[in-house]
Amino acid sequence: METLDLIQPDDWHLHVRDGDFLKTVVPHTAEQFARAVIMPNLKVPLTQTQDALAYKERILSNVPKHLSFEPLMTLYLTDHLKPSEIAVAKEQGIVALKLYPAGATTHSDLGVTDIKRIYPVLDAMQRHGLLLLVHGEVTDPSVDIFDREAVFIDRHLEPLRKDFPALKIVFEHITTQQACEYVKSADQGLAATLTAHHLLLNRNAIFKGGLRPHYYCLPVLKRETHRMALLEAATSGDERFFLGTDSAPHLATLKEHASACAGCYTASVAMSLYASAFEAAGRMDQLERFASLNGPAFYGLEKNTQRLRLQKQSFEVQVEYPFGEGALKPLFAGETLEWSAHLMA
Ligand code: NCD
Ligand code: ZN
Repeated sequence: METLDLIQPDDWHLHVRDGDFLKTVVPHTAEQFARAVIMPNLKVPLTQTQDALAYKERILSNVPKHLSFEPLMTLYLTDHLKPSEIAVAKEQGIVALKLYPAGATTHSDLGVTDIKRIYPVLDAMQRHGLLLLVHGEVTDPSVDIFDREAVFIDRHLEPLRKDFPALKIVFEHITTQQACEYVKSADQGLAATLTAHHLLLNRNAIFKGGLRPHYYCLPVLKRETHRMALLEAATSGDERFFLGTDSAPHLATLKEHASACAGCYTASVAMSLYASAFEAAGRMDQLERFASLNGPAFYGLEKNTQRLRLQKQSFEVQVEYPFGEGALKPLFAGETLEWSAHLMA
């Protein structure tokens, strides 16, 4: 296969940061995706609807004039968010709230310390039809970092789903076979996003020829058996699995650091990466479902009208991009990718 035309995809999990950083990363996403769910873990977390709406305007002001792109905004759950904010959020078009267990990842210090504390907010979300997006890892330091997602399912996700059976939940950036199986076993209301890097790489990548911080993200890459389970889930056609890059830009100086930040930057070549993964699985025929249909169906939104063309046309990934006062290095910098992506007129 040399060409694949698909309904324009959406990215259901994206970090774009703020200020000058937006200039670099927003166009990369808008060149491929019609919409993206914007993560609220800014340095000062977005907990209020009005702040999220102001942030949306800053994002929109960085969309190139010839492109149309819609940021789908989310709020950050803390122990202190008021249930009354949920009705306001719904009314103003916020699509979801993000649950970060406190300390689980980048800028999650103000996350939730005990899920029971936010039960009144979850109840309001269930009533108003707002989605819950979950970073599904326990933060218990006695649990091995490679097991934190699997343990989260039993300790937190299953009890939560029992208590809020009508709450729609997205288990974000899943990385394990256990998570795939859990999502498949759910009868309703549960879906998962999958990153391109977790479909393409296993944890060996972090250690190949030396410690490679650009391959470090959370949840951390897992062993090959898990990667294979993720690829099977993504390419199976199962409507509960859809695209979420978790593209997470950091200054190169903070990645190449004694305590490197977690996050891989993939937005600029995201559709090329997903195409490679689906091609390797022999399931290019399932890419449109995964990238363009399953997500809108779960969120209750229309599918896009524009189309994106993927062409077998190799190119070299740019080594770095200017990023604020520094540089941003994408995953696979300098390597050759086989598929290029272009919006169709
Ligand atoms: C994300 C970031 O940098 O904001 N990092 C990451 O490794 N994925 C946070 C997150 O989604 O966990
Ligand atoms: Zn993320």
